[in-house]
Amino acid sequence: MAEGLPAFRPLDGWYDRAGVRHDPHRRVTEPDPGPGQDFFPRHLMPHTTHPLVQALAPQRVRELEARHLYQYLSFTAHFETRVVNRAALHIAEDGSGVRVGTAARADALKIYTDEGYHALYSLDLVAQLEAATRIPALRHDFRPFLARLDLVGEQALPGRAVLAQLLQVVVFETLVTSILSAVPADPQVLGVVRETVADHARDEGRHHAYFSAFFRELWAGLGPAERAAAARCLPALVRRSLEPELTAHRAALLAAGLTAARVRTVLAESYPAEGTDARIAADARHTVRLFRDCGVLEQPGALDAFASAGLVGDLTDDLADDLEGVR
Ligand SMILES: [Fe+2]
Ligand SMILES: [Fe+2]
Repeated sequence: MAEGLPAFRPLDGWYDRAGVRHDPHRRVTEPDPGPGQDFFPRHLMPHTTHPLVQALAPQRVRELEARHLYQYLSFTAHFETRVVNRAALHIAEDGSGVRVGTAARADALKIYTDEGYHALYSLDLVAQLEAATRIPALRHDFRPFLARLDLVGEQALPGRAVLAQLLQVVVFETLVTSILSAVPADPQVLGVVRETVADHARDEGRHHAYFSAFFRELWAGLGPAERAAAARCLPALVRRSLEPELTAHRAALLAAGLTAARVRTVLAESYPAEGTDARIAADARHTVRLFRDCGVLEQPGALDAFASAGLVGDLTDDLADDLEGVR
């Protein structure tokens, strides 16, 4: 195989363009962020606007909103270091199984550096907001999420942990979640939160291009059995990456003083399966197109697996026509 990736170098210019090289340290300037300012876009934390929650004391609601932002930032910090950088290191160390040139391996270390910085400023923002608001974060345990994510690969690709980890990172880094665009665009959201997410989104655009190119090389080098197994586990990886973190929401609602029964009601009504499926399909559309372009959906059982995961319902007409041909 030719040394893949150098033909398209999305990390070129990194020393001038990367956030870690030139973005300022974002600081909480308000002594106590007040009314009229949201910690996170309201439509992205629907449990906080549920009538049972709105009936709580205003301070309890405010704590819940702050903890939603904390949870997002803590999850981001863990995901960057534990999932994205685990895979980036495989590429950088030339242990991915894909022959990439030295420059592309160095690019993987640029991503590693970016993600380390994203993790740092995510946790730093939690610390700043805890101090400014005097609302402490709840402990966030990432291990159950990581165990569920890894289980998908262990079941579909036994003995191929590195391949499974590379697929995880391709999926996550090519998703275009509504969060990265919605947060900076919401004028109600605290300025420091909008700036932080906007900084992150700029770097992620380059990562998206890198991992799209990487996946094409990875896929081209897989044998028939690996392709079939990989194709069947990709939809589950997409869903695991995008499903709402109900465990964290449940803990925050209980801490706000709701009974367990009321917490169940709030979550069921705030995150109905239909709405969650639609959002996941929308956030995953670029990833699914990449897979389609590489022939993933032509693998035995793949189209059914993607359809069962609700990932072919949001596709454009031309893609739906193409998929008819695959069936
Ligand atoms: Fe990142
Ligand atoms: Fe990234």
